[in-house]
Amino acid sequence: MADKATTAKLSIEGKTLDLPIRHGTLGPDVFDITKLYGEGGVFTYDPGYTSTASCESKITYIDGDEGVLLYRGYPIEQLAEHGDFIETCYLLYYGELPNAAQRKEFEHAITHHTMIHEQMSRFYSGFRRDAHPMAVMVGVVGAMSAFYHDSTDINDPKQREIASRRMIAKLPTIAAMAFKYHIGQPFVYPKNNLSYAANFLHMCFAVPCEEYKVNPVLARAMDKIFILHADHEQNASTSTVRLAGSSGANPFACIAAGIACLWGPAHGGANEAALQMLGEIGDPAKVPAFIARVKDKSQHTRLMGFGHRVYKNYDPRAKIMQKTAHEVLGELGIKDDPLLDVARELEKAALSDSYFIERKLYPNVDFYSGIILRALGFPTSMFTVLFAVARTVGWIAQWKEMIEDPSQKIGRPRQLYTGSPRRDYVPMSRRSR
Ligand code: CMC
Repeated sequence: MADKATTAKLSIEGKTLDLPIRHGTLGPDVFDITKLYGEGGVFTYDPGYTSTASCESKITYIDGDEGVLLYRGYPIEQLAEHGDFIETCYLLYYGELPNAAQRKEFEHAITHHTMIHEQMSRFYSGFRRDAHPMAVMVGVVGAMSAFYHDSTDINDPKQREIASRRMIAKLPTIAAMAFKYHIGQPFVYPKNNLSYAANFLHMCFAVPCEEYKVNPVLARAMDKIFILHADHEQNASTSTVRLAGSSGANPFACIAAGIACLWGPAHGGANEAALQMLGEIGDPAKVPAFIARVKDKSQHTRLMGFGHRVYKNYDPRAKIMQKTAHEVLGELGIKDDPLLDVARELEKAALSDSYFIERKLYPNVDFYSGIILRALGFPTSMFTVLFAVARTVGWIAQWKEMIEDPSQKIGRPRQLYTGSPRRDYVPMSRRSR
């Protein structure tokens, strides 16, 4: 096999620059353009970073054409089938699956740090009753930096680890409290004899006046949903966390920034939007009319839960999600979920329609997740919150990797300026408008 090229040549106005080519273990090569401005006096232009690698990473790999997702090299299907969320957290954060002793120590530490400072619970009453739980999440997670001062020194590896473990442990508690506040029920404290996912369901659905037993099938489904959402390389919210962290901001503030970014309907908010869309369609018979609306660009309607910047094939998470939806509905004895019927019909119609085929639009992770979360008892407003709970470990692992990267510097994109050239101040009396 021929050796791979090590440099690419770029000619600008008679001058030739050699750009080093870097090869990853998987995926396309990259041109290293770090010296481009210094040596060539030009920038690159790539809105939305469609062709730009913003960092080097060893955490997650996606092959969008083949529909492959690997965490530290392990296929998502294997982790979802044989692993659990706690060891997925360990894997993403530390780089390897834990041995028995490492797992025991990690799980014990996470389980025993799930309570939040009691004073934080009073923070909630400052929010309006009808506040969206994602708004509460942004506020309360940001406020963690005001409560846990002893783990905000980003230059101390021990403090970095403590802050990371605190966030993995406390995010479910903060999320469950946001939910309880939203529905007007008392907060439920964490229980140390429950698994990560079971404890979360307990904090969400138990009430002080009666016994609540967590259904193990539903806890396993919740755990799988957490695994599937745990990381997804340099997506918008992760890039936000990295960019915020690149300035040296404390990790709690960085994760709050990630949560804010995740909220948008093109990103984590899509699961909420997908379920709303299925509800609006309401009947499989109305699917053709909806598909026609999506294809009519003047309507500005997207098929939510479809399409992805990286996947140009079936999102592997969507397949597992679809299977999990059947398991959950089966366990709950829901024989016919009209929304599942609409989803299936929508998927069938889209996958055989040239508009979607030509643009390589397939179901993504959010297409079926809403059906499961609704069956579990969550309102749509909580869907993105659950995504944030699961993604916290990914954000934290990526933040740690960035801080520990010796080539790390503050993120500072350039721009192509198309505004007015220099001009002189015009006094009010001489302004025409
Ligand atoms: N429905 C209809 N048309 C679509 C859709 C869709 N869901 N997604 C993309 N297109 C069309 C788009 O109109 C464009 O068509 P044309 O070439 O004629 O202008 C073409 O496909 C390419 O789309 P794009 O917007 O340039 O692609 P992108 O990579 O910038 O967007 C996306 C990716 C995920 C934002 C987009 O597919 C989308 O808006 N999907 C719906 C929202 C969604 O489900 N988001 C969840 C993503 S997975 C979870 C996560 O990562 O948070």
